Amino acid sequence: MTIKNAVIVYGSPRLKKSGSFHLGENFAIGLKKGGVSIEEIMVHKKNIKPCRGCFTCWTKTPGICVSHDDMVEILPILDNADLIVYAVPLYIYSIPGPVKTFLDRQLPLAEPYLVEKNGITSHPRRNKGKILKAFIISVAGFPELSHFDAMIATFKHLFKPHEERYLGEILIGGANQMSENASQSGYGELYKLIQQAGFEISQNERVSQSTQTQIEELTSFTPEKIKKYQNMANQYWDTFIKKDYTQVEITQLDDQPLKMSDGGNSAYFATMASQYNPNAFPGMKSILQFEFETDSYYLLIDKDICNAFAGSYPNPTLKIKSPEEIWMKIVAGELSGQKSFMDGLYTIEGDMNLLLNLNKIFTN
Ligand SMILES: Cc1cc2nc3c(=O)[nH]c(=O)nc-3n(C[C@H](O)[C@H](O)[C@H](O)COP(=O)(O)O)c2cc1C
Repeated sequence: MTIKNAVIVYGSPRLKKSGSFHLGENFAIGLKKGGVSIEEIMVHKKNIKPCRGCFTCWTKTPGICVSHDDMVEILPILDNADLIVYAVPLYIYSIPGPVKTFLDRQLPLAEPYLVEKNGITSHPRRNKGKILKAFIISVAGFPELSHFDAMIATFKHLFKPHEERYLGEILIGGANQMSENASQSGYGELYKLIQQAGFEISQNERVSQSTQTQIEELTSFTPEKIKKYQNMANQYWDTFIKKDYTQVEITQLDDQPLKMSDGGNSAYFATMASQYNPNAFPGMKSILQFEFETDSYYLLIDKDICNAFAGSYPNPTLKIKSPEEIWMKIVAGELSGQKSFMDGLYTIEGDMNLLLNLNKIFTN
């Protein structure tokens, strides 16, 4: 095993809440399982000044930068590492600015001389006894993987695949919600595969085809899924921008409100109605219809009051059609609501804003 020491560089300003952090920490679990010792660097927590371009680290004080900040401690860690893992979000087709600064400030690790290797000019490493290999983990808001092209080109130049220093990448598009706590339940399977990828890198310096394929199958977007994702993302942003809701005229039907003592699904919806928070969106008038395989329920929200009923309402604001088992797993946190929707496990008609805000509306 040639990889003994690895450094994981986390590059999101969302810190430990970020999607890239969740992936990086799972990759680290796999590396550790393979016997690799890990140092973690959270770039946005460090004081790292921009490179001044003075080349003092190449001339007057070889290997030492004029800026005395956190890079003073970080450079020896990088110098001693066999593997560096960048776990970073995609920002403007590239890496976030502070991560770029972190790369620039590694100049003292190189010598100024120009050498030619495999037909291309580069700078030799100051520490001749070490070879630093790299693995890249990145997430993006857009679903297509082509958005990562420029970022990956940069890392490949830096770590030169022909010298076998570039060990590969895991790229996940459409990943914005990976940073949200409420979504974590949907990623258990993916995180296990990421751990497996880390373990394989520790053993073979490559991720097996089987693990790569499984990650791709879980995270790739078909054209149809891209359309759904665009639609869902647009509605998601609208929930922050527009604070109002489709207001409907409420006509009370003759149905009797459900009570918790009714048991079964009736009790579930009566409980949900009792958790209605009238302060979430004051003055709200909406009808939320649920259709399971064999039975239907609706919640009628009329400003301060919310009641649940069995049956169907003619023009609901939002209709959720779901197998009962799927919906109950989402409620229990065993499935991600967003991912299940994208995977077509349930369908909706009407105002998706309502769906995306259910946890705000029913909180009491
Ligand atoms: C300043 C900024 C620039 C971004 N640029 C891109 C981009 O070029 N392409 C893209 O697909 N997503 C872009 N995004 C979205 C992020 O990549 C996305 O939200 C990602 O999931 C964040 O990951 P994190 O949770 O690890 O921070 C950008 C986000 C920000 C804040």
